[in-house]
Amino acid sequence: MSSAGPEKRAAELRRVIEHHNHRYYVLDDPDVSDAEYDDLLNELRDLEAEHPELRTPDSPTQRVGGKPLEKFVQVHHLQPMLSLANARNEEELRAWDARVKDLADLEHVRYVSEPKVDGLAISLVYEDGVLTRGATRGNGEIGEDVTQNLRTIKALPLRIEDAPPLVEVRGEVYLPRSAFARLNEQRAEAGEPTFANPRNSAAGSIRQLDPALAAARPLSVWCYGIGKTEGLRHETHAEELAWLEAAGFKVTPDWKRHDGLEELVAECRRWEEDREGLDFEIDGVVVKVDDLDIQRSLGVVGREPRGAIAWKFAPMTVTTTLRRVMWNVGRTGHMVPFADLEPVQVSGVTVKLATLHNEEDLRKKDVRDGDEVIVMRAGDVIPQVVSPTPKAQRRRKRAKPPEPPATCPACGTETVKPEDGVWTICPNRASCPGQIFQAVKHFVSKGAMDIDGFGEKQAQRFLADGLIGDVADIYELDEERLVGLDGFGEVSARNLLAAIDGSREVPFFRVLYALGVPGIGYVNARALAAQFRTMDALMAATAEDIETTDGIGPVLAATIVETLADEATRDLIERLRRHGLQMEQEGPPPGSDGKLTGLTFVLTGTLPDLSRERATEMIETAGGKVTGSVSKKTSYVVAGADPGSKLAKAEQVGVAVIDRDTLLELVESGPPSQGDG
Ligand code: IVH
Repeated sequence: MSSAGPEKRAAELRRVIEHHNHRYYVLDDPDVSDAEYDDLLNELRDLEAEHPELRTPDSPTQRVGGKPLEKFVQVHHLQPMLSLANARNEEELRAWDARVKDLADLEHVRYVSEPKVDGLAISLVYEDGVLTRGATRGNGEIGEDVTQNLRTIKALPLRIEDAPPLVEVRGEVYLPRSAFARLNEQRAEAGEPTFANPRNSAAGSIRQLDPALAAARPLSVWCYGIGKTEGLRHETHAEELAWLEAAGFKVTPDWKRHDGLEELVAECRRWEEDREGLDFEIDGVVVKVDDLDIQRSLGVVGREPRGAIAWKFAPMTVTTTLRRVMWNVGRTGHMVPFADLEPVQVSGVTVKLATLHNEEDLRKKDVRDGDEVIVMRAGDVIPQVVSPTPKAQRRRKRAKPPEPPATCPACGTETVKPEDGVWTICPNRASCPGQIFQAVKHFVSKGAMDIDGFGEKQAQRFLADGLIGDVADIYELDEERLVGLDGFGEVSARNLLAAIDGSREVPFFRVLYALGVPGIGYVNARALAAQFRTMDALMAATAEDIETTDGIGPVLAATIVETLADEATRDLIERLRRHGLQMEQEGPPPGSDGKLTGLTFVLTGTLPDLSRERATEMIETAGGKVTGSVSKKTSYVVAGADPGSKLAKAEQVGVAVIDRDTLLELVESGPPSQGDG
């Protein structure tokens, strides 16, 4: 290869890979399979290994890697990173609007609204289109250089096309809620301390000296503005956002321009109503004057520009008195502390109880009976005690740190603290009513068997009335026993039984998760099912075998083997098997050939009696891939009623279009081989 050859190829690979990153991480609409993507990345890696001089800082191979730093270098921001004044209610927003109009001497001012993302503020400097520096906000003047860690965020472009000599992009790094829940679950399973909220975990990940740790967290970013620029000028904030979008950034979603204040207030209220449904946390809405000249002319008071304001949602934290710490027993037997509080209103709801998570968290927070504490309530999740107030800490002569109880609060059995364990537990796993209740609650819950209409209340009732004694009994419930129970008519009984029946189809990895074996959380259940394929193979595995599973260390492996060897666990598994629950992973083992291996599908329109999720699951189970847009590499477009533009695209590119029934045939028997004609 001539010296121009590899250089050109490397540049092309970088461009193509970043294009795919953008499709996947920003647009959520990939157009190649994971394998194709990996091939491109590997080709680039090989090329750079052979020609190290071709390795540029904006190369996608540089996203992961780099050595851990000794410490972060402090950097001066090119322009100060300011803060926002708050409007806590409609009156304050109206007062701000009136002042803006008054100072600008205008009757009419246009605004832009955006969600105020609760994460970590960052500044990204692009010089001649290449990301050269990423920094935290710090004190607004000086931040920390976290470029290495920010490079690991795939939603951030490392290079932008047609770029000006200099542009500084501002944004907020966050961890999606779903990823946060998984991360905490994994940490808890591994006996590591959990994060209090997604914001802390995002900030903690970016402020790690080892970039490999940041790379391991599925962080993302919302960009919301532009700081210093050279060779780039916009008239309005809306233009800035549009420019960012076109340059490939992930811009705060659903930003809007508003001509009137009424519309703006309605938008702020809408965000407040919708916030719980988002996969990222927001704590308000940012309102900015759209016209940048007006914004600048309004100036800055202290550290707050007059041309923008944050509409803050009703606070979700309050202070109250912790009457005392009480204890419950958790699903795997560990003692769970919770707070008995002086009743208090938090965002419209009276809170009397709040969780303190676990023994270790309790110790870290150092709360004691009688403390004044900060309590937080967010959405449907159980309110939690955040910390004692500083005042409470100063007044400490009094209560001792709370200790876990000597006997189980649910069954009275003496508690134990295993030598190598972090939690105090109730050893009565088989018959402690507290543990059984928690186990049933977990078994029927969303990520597990997902039995609609079976929640905490039903679990409590059925156990108390002796209708069930454990999770396997759920499959022996019948109409006769249900009808007549308070709140159950024929219809609701039938619905519940249908939901129970439907759960027999729940895939094996979720059955494994539903069992509630210590050490087998959602993530580990997935990994174990993928590796061992069947319940029998898993039960026959040794700790050494299990240790080879991704993410499972020797301690967890030993716990898993011990629990699975337990006679009570084995009995339960056998009974569930007899009730028809899935004990085998569907589909071909990873890496082997499935009926649809190597084929890529695009779904469009509504398929009769087949949800998009189910169709995707079926295709993937058979080894195929589902992507969001049609290209020459698409094998089939599956079209239903009211297909979108993808159908036209398929016809244009010449990709085969099939209907639902043909898809089902393909899943069943694979594509016709060449000779079949
Ligand atoms: S604009 C003058 N827009 O909120 C400050 N900030 O106090 C310009 N934030 O930590 C900030 N979402 O990182 C702006 N859509 C958004 C935002 C946003 C979150 C954060 C920002 C800063 C704080 C402002």
